[in-house]
Amino acid sequence: MTAVCFARKGHEVVGIDTDLDALGKIQKAEPPFFEPRLKEYLVEAVTEGIFAVTDDASANARSELTFMAVGTPVCEDGSIDLTHIRNTAEAIGRSIRDTTHYQLTVVKSTVTPGTARTVVRPLIERESGKTAGMGFGLCSNPEFLREGNALHDAEFPDRIVIGSEDAVAAKKLESFYEELHGEHMPPVVRTTHENAELLKYANNAFLATKISFINTIANIAERTPNADIQTIARGIGLDERIGPEFLKAGLGWGGPCLPKDVKALVEFSKTVNYNPELIKSVITTNEEQNGRALQAARKVLGSLKGKRIGILGLAFKPGTDDMREAASVPLIQELIREGASVAAYDPAALDNARKIFRNDISYSRDSLECIDGADCCIIVTDWDEFKAIAPKDFIERMRCPVVIDGRRIYDVDRYSKAGIRLSAIGLGPVARSP
Ligand code: UGA
Repeated sequence: MTAVCFARKGHEVVGIDTDLDALGKIQKAEPPFFEPRLKEYLVEAVTEGIFAVTDDASANARSELTFMAVGTPVCEDGSIDLTHIRNTAEAIGRSIRDTTHYQLTVVKSTVTPGTARTVVRPLIERESGKTAGMGFGLCSNPEFLREGNALHDAEFPDRIVIGSEDAVAAKKLESFYEELHGEHMPPVVRTTHENAELLKYANNAFLATKISFINTIANIAERTPNADIQTIARGIGLDERIGPEFLKAGLGWGGPCLPKDVKALVEFSKTVNYNPELIKSVITTNEEQNGRALQAARKVLGSLKGKRIGILGLAFKPGTDDMREAASVPLIQELIREGASVAAYDPAALDNARKIFRNDISYSRDSLECIDGADCCIIVTDWDEFKAIAPKDFIERMRCPVVIDGRRIYDVDRYSKAGIRLSAIGLGPVARSP
């Protein structure tokens, strides 16, 4: 994403990776994953010859700026796995060993505090024979792109964070962004490597906290007559100190970033002798939230054995085909375990779902086929096209019109009045007059 955005602004970009399958696709201007508008950007950059890819790390010798954007997965215990970071730092070091021009390495990957200083820097120095701050520059520059909005976020970031102990390197990177963003240049936070690294974790942990918080209030609202989380979220979101974003109650937060980063922050905290109770509760609240759809289904249907359940939405959020840590995965696994027959549909993630569930569930061609003959339908991802399913579609097609709105996409009054048995996250019971 970052690479095509740089290419679009006229920079010559070389993408270096070891994933030959992904490289092959990019060479043919085929995005290796789904992201709105990426195909269009990629075709432009590849056909203009301004963006090329290779698995040859020595290609980095020619570069002026090198962005490390490798994945940082978590180990079994939740701590960060720096294998790719180490390998890449070594490869960068080797590639710049014999170069004579100024080269700046920028750590974009999400890494725990201290990684740039104590892992990346010594490895580049060892392999290059050069010294940071003299022979090469090193900056930390976390990114805040959202899947599904990544190209927009890359072009119009809210801020740019630059961590470095080397003023020349930091200035060079800031100038690069100034030229890139022109009049849209956002505020810059110039700081230490460690602040930049911790700031990224704090950002994702705060977003996760906001969602777990609103889900907690949603659970209280569900037990409170006449309460509705939608109105509560709107009301508190209007407080400028709180803001309206990330207050959408649902089946919890997932994806490739929030879950792993929040866990890595907990593990990192242990290494600095701190027990982050709040962040740990944010995680457990999220794990429990996933079970809300199952509880609602059991409440209406009793045993789920032999019941046909339609799952609308598999991706961890709309606008992506990514199913990493998606709410749909543990939900479907539990439905299968309880003997339900699952039909699933997603506008983008069906191929990924097939790799996970194989023949254990059936895959529908569209949302209406998914609800055909179902005893219950669960909305797991808030794709726009699910909002277009009318009450009569549910009534005519389902065996019984039980809908669990796990993302609050339906108008409760309209769907309930039409005869849908709607169970919505964060919606309390209607109080009877005394
Ligand atoms: C997240 C951050 O939002 C980005 O700023 C960051 O750059 C990125 O991680 C990263 O570290 O690379 P992303 O993983 O694309 O981006 O997903 P989000 O948009 O944050 O959504 C995460 C989850 O929260 C989704 O499952 C979504 O359904 C859920 N969510 C979001 C809610 O349940 N309620 C909300 O109000 C918002």
